[in-house]
Amino acid sequence: IRRIGVLTSGGDAPGMNALIRSVVRSASANDISVLGIRRGYSGLINGDIIEMGARSVDGIIRKGGTMLYTARCKEMLTEEGLQKAADTCRYLGIDGLICCGGDGTFRGAQALSRKGVPCIGVPGTIDNDIGCSDYTIGFDTACNTAIECIDKLRDTMQSHERCSVVEVMGRRAGHLALQVGCAVGATAICLPERQLDFDTEIVERMRIGRIKGRNHHIIIVAEGYGSAQEVADQIHEATGIDTRVTILGHIQRGGSPSAMDRVMATRMGYAAVRALMEGKTNRVVVSDNNIVTDIDIEEGLAQSKDLNQCLFEAQQTVAI
Ligand code: F6P
Repeated sequence: IRRIGVLTSGGDAPGMNALIRSVVRSASANDISVLGIRRGYSGLINGDIIEMGARSVDGIIRKGGTMLYTARCKEMLTEEGLQKAADTCRYLGIDGLICCGGDGTFRGAQALSRKGVPCIGVPGTIDNDIGCSDYTIGFDTACNTAIECIDKLRDTMQSHERCSVVEVMGRRAGHLALQVGCAVGATAICLPERQLDFDTEIVERMRIGRIKGRNHHIIIVAEGYGSAQEVADQIHEATGIDTRVTILGHIQRGGSPSAMDRVMATRMGYAAVRALMEGKTNRVVVSDNNIVTDIDIEEGLAQSKDLNQCLFEAQQTVAI
Protein backbone atom coordinates (compact mmCIF):
# COMPACT_ATOMS: atom_id res chain seq x y z
CA ILE A 1 0.00 0.00 0.00
CA ARG A 2 1.19 3.51 -0.80
CA ARG A 3 -1.27 5.88 0.81
CA ILE A 4 -3.63 5.69 3.79
CA GLY A 5 -6.12 8.02 5.45
CA VAL A 6 -6.81 8.58 9.13
CA LEU A 7 -9.87 10.12 10.78
CA THR A 8 -11.40 10.59 14.20
CA SER A 9 -15.18 10.42 14.54
CA GLY A 10 -17.92 10.62 17.19
CA GLY A 11 -17.20 12.16 20.60
CA ASP A 12 -13.55 13.13 21.02
CA ALA A 13 -11.41 11.38 23.61
CA PRO A 14 -8.03 12.21 25.16
CA GLY A 15 -5.44 10.15 23.32
CA MET A 16 -6.92 10.59 19.83
CA ASN A 17 -4.00 12.87 18.97
CA ALA A 18 -1.57 10.24 20.20
CA LEU A 19 -3.35 7.76 17.92
CA ILE A 20 -3.05 10.10 14.90
CA ARG A 21 0.65 10.54 15.69
CA SER A 22 1.19 6.82 15.90
CA VAL A 23 -0.60 6.16 12.61
CA VAL A 24 1.29 8.91 10.77
CA ARG A 25 4.69 7.89 12.13
CA SER A 26 4.11 4.14 11.66
CA ALA A 27 3.11 4.79 8.06
CA SER A 28 6.02 7.17 7.41
CA ALA A 29 8.45 4.58 8.75
CA ASN A 30 7.18 2.25 6.02
CA ASP A 31 7.19 4.86 3.22
CA ILE A 32 3.41 5.09 3.21
CA SER A 33 1.98 8.59 2.79
CA VAL A 34 -0.88 9.75 5.03
CA LEU A 35 -3.89 11.97 4.44
CA GLY A 36 -5.65 13.41 7.48
CA ILE A 37 -9.42 13.41 6.98
CA ARG A 38 -10.94 16.27 8.96
CA ARG A 39 -14.27 16.21 10.84
CA GLY A 40 -14.72 12.45 10.65
CA TYR A 41 -16.56 10.94 7.71
CA SER A 42 -17.90 14.33 6.64
CA GLY A 43 -14.32 15.19 5.63
CA LEU A 44 -14.41 12.30 3.18
CA ILE A 45 -17.79 13.34 1.84
CA ASN A 46 -16.81 17.02 1.50
CA GLY A 47 -13.15 16.61 0.60
CA ASP A 48 -11.86 18.24 3.80
CA ILE A 49 -8.46 16.59 3.75
CA ILE A 50 -4.85 17.51 4.62
CA GLU A 51 -1.52 15.93 3.84
CA MET A 52 0.37 14.75 6.90
CA GLY A 53 3.96 13.78 7.56
CA ALA A 54 6.08 12.73 10.51
CA ARG A 55 6.72 16.39 11.45
CA SER A 56 3.07 17.47 11.28
CA VAL A 57 2.34 15.44 14.40
CA ASP A 58 5.20 16.84 16.50
CA GLY A 59 4.14 17.68 20.05
CA ILE A 60 0.57 16.37 19.80
CA ILE A 61 1.01 13.27 21.97
CA ARG A 62 0.41 15.35 25.09
CA LYS A 63 -2.60 17.27 23.75
CA GLY A 64 -6.28 16.57 24.43
CA GLY A 65 -8.96 16.73 21.73
CA THR A 66 -8.18 15.78 18.14
CA MET A 67 -6.18 17.90 15.69
CA LEU A 68 -8.31 16.45 12.87
CA TYR A 69 -11.55 17.60 14.51
CA THR A 70 -14.44 15.21 14.85
CA ALA A 71 -18.12 15.00 13.96
CA ARG A 72 -21.06 12.66 14.06
CA CYS A 73 -21.87 12.43 10.35
CA LYS A 74 -25.51 11.61 9.54
CA GLU A 75 -24.84 11.68 5.80
CA MET A 76 -22.70 8.57 6.17
CA LEU A 77 -25.90 6.69 7.00
CA THR A 78 -27.28 7.40 3.52
CA GLU A 79 -26.30 5.47 0.38
CA GLU A 80 -25.45 8.74 -1.35
CA GLY A 81 -23.12 9.92 1.43
CA LEU A 82 -21.46 6.54 1.69
CA GLN A 83 -20.88 6.42 -2.08
CA LYS A 84 -19.38 9.94 -2.01
CA ALA A 85 -17.00 8.88 0.77
CA ALA A 86 -15.95 5.76 -1.15
CA ASP A 87 -15.50 7.79 -4.36
CA THR A 88 -13.24 10.28 -2.53
CA CYS A 89 -11.05 7.41 -1.33
CA ARG A 90 -10.78 6.04 -4.85
CA TYR A 91 -10.13 9.47 -6.38
CA LEU A 92 -7.37 10.25 -3.85
CA GLY A 93 -5.80 6.80 -4.15
CA ILE A 94 -6.42 5.94 -0.50
CA ASP A 95 -5.45 2.26 -0.15
CA GLY A 96 -6.68 2.00 3.43
CA LEU A 97 -8.44 4.02 6.09
CA ILE A 98 -8.00 4.07 9.87
CA CYS A 99 -11.11 5.26 11.74
CA CYS A 100 -10.92 6.04 15.46
CA GLY A 101 -14.12 6.34 17.49
CA GLY A 102 -16.95 4.28 18.96
CA ASP A 103 -19.49 1.84 17.54
CA GLY A 104 -21.00 4.41 15.13
CA THR A 105 -17.53 4.96 13.69
CA PHE A 106 -17.06 1.22 13.23
CA ARG A 107 -20.37 0.96 11.39
CA GLY A 108 -19.11 3.61 8.96
CA ALA A 109 -15.86 1.68 8.53
CA GLN A 110 -17.80 -1.52 7.93
CA ALA A 111 -19.97 0.13 5.26
CA LEU A 112 -16.92 1.60 3.51
CA SER A 113 -15.14 -1.77 3.64
CA ARG A 114 -18.12 -3.27 1.81
CA LYS A 115 -17.63 -0.61 -0.88
CA GLY A 116 -14.09 -1.87 -1.37
CA VAL A 117 -12.18 0.61 0.81
CA PRO A 118 -10.01 -1.35 3.28
CA CYS A 119 -10.88 0.01 6.73
CA ILE A 120 -9.55 -0.59 10.23
CA GLY A 121 -11.39 0.76 13.29
CA VAL A 122 -9.67 1.81 16.51
CA PRO A 123 -11.70 2.16 19.75
CA GLY A 124 -11.58 5.74 21.02
CA THR A 125 -14.23 6.84 23.51
CA ILE A 126 -14.22 7.83 27.17
CA ASP A 127 -17.17 5.46 27.73
CA ASN A 128 -15.15 2.20 27.42
CA ASP A 129 -18.35 0.70 26.02
CA ILE A 130 -16.91 -1.26 23.08
CA GLY A 131 -17.79 -4.89 23.77
CA CYS A 132 -14.91 -6.45 21.86
CA SER A 133 -12.12 -4.45 23.49
CA ASP A 134 -11.32 -4.35 27.16
CA TYR A 135 -10.00 -0.82 26.72
CA THR A 136 -10.93 2.25 24.69
CA ILE A 137 -8.62 5.24 24.22
CA GLY A 138 -9.61 8.11 26.53
CA PHE A 139 -11.16 6.10 29.35
CA ASP A 140 -8.28 6.41 31.81
CA THR A 141 -7.85 10.16 31.34
CA ALA A 142 -11.60 10.74 31.71
CA CYS A 143 -11.55 8.73 34.95
CA ASN A 144 -8.64 10.75 36.27
CA THR A 145 -10.33 14.03 35.36
CA ALA A 146 -13.55 13.01 37.10
CA ILE A 147 -11.62 11.84 40.17
CA GLU A 148 -9.77 15.14 40.42
CA CYS A 149 -13.06 17.06 40.32
CA ILE A 150 -14.81 14.79 42.82
CA ASP A 151 -11.89 14.94 45.26
CA LYS A 152 -12.40 18.70 45.27
CA LEU A 153 -16.12 18.29 45.80
CA ARG A 154 -15.42 16.03 48.74
CA ASP A 155 -13.52 18.80 50.52
CA THR A 156 -16.51 21.12 50.52
CA MET A 157 -19.06 18.36 51.18
CA GLN A 158 -17.04 17.34 54.24
CA SER A 159 -16.92 20.90 55.57
CA HIS A 160 -20.69 21.31 55.21
CA GLU A 161 -21.59 17.72 56.11
CA ARG A 162 -23.52 17.41 52.86
CA CYS A 163 -24.25 14.77 50.27
CA SER A 164 -22.88 15.29 46.78
CA VAL A 165 -24.67 13.64 43.87
CA VAL A 166 -22.35 13.61 40.86
CA GLU A 167 -23.40 12.74 37.33
CA VAL A 168 -20.70 11.05 35.27
CA MET A 169 -20.76 10.53 31.47
CA GLY A 170 -20.84 7.14 29.75
CA ARG A 171 -23.86 7.31 27.45
CA ARG A 172 -25.82 4.07 28.07
CA ALA A 173 -22.96 2.34 29.90
CA GLY A 174 -21.81 2.51 33.52
CA HIS A 175 -18.13 1.55 33.15
CA LEU A 176 -16.86 5.09 33.66
CA ALA A 177 -19.20 5.66 36.63
CA LEU A 178 -18.16 2.40 38.29
CA GLN A 179 -14.44 3.03 37.87
CA VAL A 180 -14.77 6.61 39.12
CA GLY A 181 -17.10 5.64 41.96
CA CYS A 182 -14.62 3.05 43.16
CA ALA A 183 -11.68 5.44 42.92
CA VAL A 184 -13.38 8.21 44.92
CA GLY A 185 -14.88 5.89 47.53
CA ALA A 186 -18.49 6.71 46.67
CA THR A 187 -21.16 5.64 49.16
CA ALA A 188 -23.32 4.40 46.27
CA ILE A 189 -23.16 4.19 42.47
CA CYS A 190 -26.26 4.27 40.29
CA LEU A 191 -25.61 2.30 37.11
CA PRO A 192 -27.82 1.69 34.06
CA GLU A 193 -26.82 -2.01 34.00
CA ARG A 194 -28.30 -2.90 37.35
CA GLN A 195 -31.53 -2.28 39.17
CA LEU A 196 -30.91 -0.42 42.40
CA ASP A 197 -32.94 -0.70 45.57
CA PHE A 198 -33.00 2.92 46.66
CA ASP A 199 -33.80 2.25 50.33
CA THR A 200 -31.21 -0.43 51.01
CA GLU A 201 -28.47 0.63 48.61
CA ILE A 202 -28.57 4.38 49.20
CA VAL A 203 -30.60 5.43 52.24
CA GLU A 204 -29.55 2.52 54.44
CA ARG A 205 -25.91 2.79 53.39
CA MET A 206 -25.94 6.49 54.22
CA ARG A 207 -27.51 5.74 57.59
CA ILE A 208 -24.89 3.10 58.41
CA GLY A 209 -22.19 5.50 57.25
CA ARG A 210 -23.50 8.14 59.65
CA ILE A 211 -23.50 5.67 62.55
CA LYS A 212 -19.91 4.79 61.69
CA GLY A 213 -18.97 8.46 61.83
CA ARG A 214 -19.12 9.51 58.19
CA ASN A 215 -20.49 13.03 58.02
CA HIS A 216 -20.76 13.43 54.24
CA HIS A 217 -21.46 11.30 51.16
CA ILE A 218 -20.60 11.06 47.49
CA ILE A 219 -23.21 9.38 45.28
CA ILE A 220 -22.23 8.71 41.65
CA VAL A 221 -24.95 8.61 39.00
CA ALA A 222 -24.09 7.32 35.53
CA GLU A 223 -25.77 9.52 32.91
CA GLY A 224 -27.45 6.42 31.47
CA TYR A 225 -29.11 5.68 34.82
CA GLY A 226 -31.33 8.75 34.94
CA SER A 227 -31.53 12.22 36.41
CA ALA A 228 -28.97 13.10 39.10
CA GLN A 229 -31.35 15.83 40.30
CA GLU A 230 -34.10 13.28 40.88
CA VAL A 231 -31.71 11.05 42.82
CA ALA A 232 -30.68 14.05 44.93
CA ASP A 233 -34.30 15.05 45.60
CA GLN A 234 -35.13 11.51 46.66
CA ILE A 235 -32.13 11.39 49.01
CA HIS A 236 -33.06 14.71 50.56
CA GLU A 237 -36.62 13.60 51.06
CA ALA A 238 -35.62 10.27 52.62
CA THR A 239 -32.75 11.49 54.83
CA GLY A 240 -33.18 15.22 55.28
CA ILE A 241 -29.47 15.61 54.46
CA ASP A 242 -28.45 18.76 52.62
CA THR A 243 -27.73 17.58 49.06
CA ARG A 244 -26.04 19.19 46.04
CA VAL A 245 -25.89 18.07 42.41
CA THR A 246 -22.87 18.37 40.10
CA ILE A 247 -22.96 17.33 36.46
CA LEU A 248 -19.35 16.89 35.35
CA GLY A 249 -20.30 16.94 31.65
CA HIS A 250 -17.82 17.61 28.88
CA ILE A 251 -14.95 18.48 31.21
CA GLN A 252 -14.46 14.69 31.31
CA ARG A 253 -13.59 14.66 27.60
CA GLY A 254 -10.75 17.17 27.81
CA GLY A 255 -7.21 17.37 29.11
CA SER A 256 -3.79 16.00 28.40
CA PRO A 257 -3.96 12.21 28.00
CA SER A 258 -2.65 9.97 30.78
CA ALA A 259 0.30 7.62 30.28
CA MET A 260 -2.16 4.77 29.79
CA ASP A 261 -3.97 6.58 26.96
CA ARG A 262 -0.79 7.74 25.23
CA VAL A 263 0.70 4.25 25.33
CA MET A 264 -2.48 2.43 24.29
CA ALA A 265 -3.05 4.91 21.43
CA THR A 266 0.52 4.37 20.26
CA ARG A 267 0.12 0.59 20.35
CA MET A 268 -3.26 0.63 18.62
CA GLY A 269 -2.19 3.10 15.90
CA TYR A 270 0.85 0.98 15.12
CA ALA A 271 -1.31 -2.18 15.02
CA ALA A 272 -3.85 -0.52 12.71
CA VAL A 273 -1.16 0.41 10.16
CA ARG A 274 0.31 -3.11 10.37
CA ALA A 275 -3.15 -4.56 9.74
CA LEU A 276 -3.54 -2.50 6.55
CA MET A 277 -0.03 -3.48 5.44
CA GLU A 278 -1.00 -7.14 5.89
CA GLY A 279 -3.94 -6.57 3.53
CA LYS A 280 -6.62 -6.72 6.22
CA THR A 281 -9.94 -4.94 5.92
CA ASN A 282 -13.16 -4.62 7.93
CA ARG A 283 -11.26 -5.20 11.19
CA VAL A 284 -11.19 -3.39 14.50
CA VAL A 285 -8.05 -3.17 16.62
CA VAL A 286 -8.81 -4.31 20.17
CA SER A 287 -7.15 -4.87 23.50
CA ASP A 288 -7.74 -8.45 24.62
CA ASN A 289 -6.36 -8.91 28.13
CA ASN A 290 -3.93 -6.11 27.31
CA ILE A 291 -2.75 -7.80 24.12
CA VAL A 292 -3.39 -5.60 21.10
CA THR A 293 -4.88 -7.61 18.25
CA ASP A 294 -7.71 -7.22 15.73
CA ILE A 295 -11.06 -8.83 14.98
CA ASP A 296 -13.77 -8.65 12.33
CA ILE A 297 -15.90 -5.52 12.77
CA GLU A 298 -19.19 -7.38 12.54
CA GLU A 299 -18.07 -9.87 15.16
CA GLY A 300 -16.82 -7.01 17.32
CA LEU A 301 -20.06 -5.05 17.07
CA ALA A 302 -22.04 -8.12 18.13
CA GLN A 303 -20.16 -8.37 21.42
CA SER A 304 -21.30 -6.64 24.58
CA LYS A 305 -19.36 -5.80 27.71
CA ASP A 306 -20.62 -6.72 31.15
CA LEU A 307 -20.08 -4.51 34.11
CA ASN A 308 -17.11 -5.58 36.21
CA GLN A 309 -19.08 -7.35 38.92
CA CYS A 310 -16.03 -8.07 41.11
CA LEU A 311 -15.13 -4.41 41.11
CA PHE A 312 -18.69 -3.48 42.03
CA GLU A 313 -18.77 -5.92 44.94
CA ALA A 314 -15.38 -4.81 46.23
CA GLN A 315 -16.44 -1.17 46.01
CA GLN A 316 -19.71 -1.85 47.85
CA THR A 317 -17.81 -3.59 50.65
CA VAL A 318 -15.08 -1.05 51.23
CA ALA A 319 -17.02 2.19 50.68
CA ILE A 320 -18.58 2.36 54.14
O1 F6P B 1 -19.47 8.96 23.84
C1 F6P B 1 -18.81 9.94 24.57
C2 F6P B 1 -19.79 10.87 25.23
O2 F6P B 1 -19.06 11.84 25.94
C3 F6P B 1 -20.83 10.20 26.13
O3 F6P B 1 -20.32 9.87 27.39
C4 F6P B 1 -21.92 11.24 26.14
O4 F6P B 1 -23.17 10.66 26.39
C5 F6P B 1 -21.85 11.83 24.76
O5 F6P B 1 -20.56 11.53 24.25
C6 F6P B 1 -22.09 13.31 24.68
O6 F6P B 1 -22.10 13.68 23.33
P1 F6P B 1 -22.03 15.19 22.82
O7 F6P B 1 -20.63 15.67 22.97
O8 F6P B 1 -22.43 15.09 21.39
O9 F6P B 1 -22.96 15.98 23.67
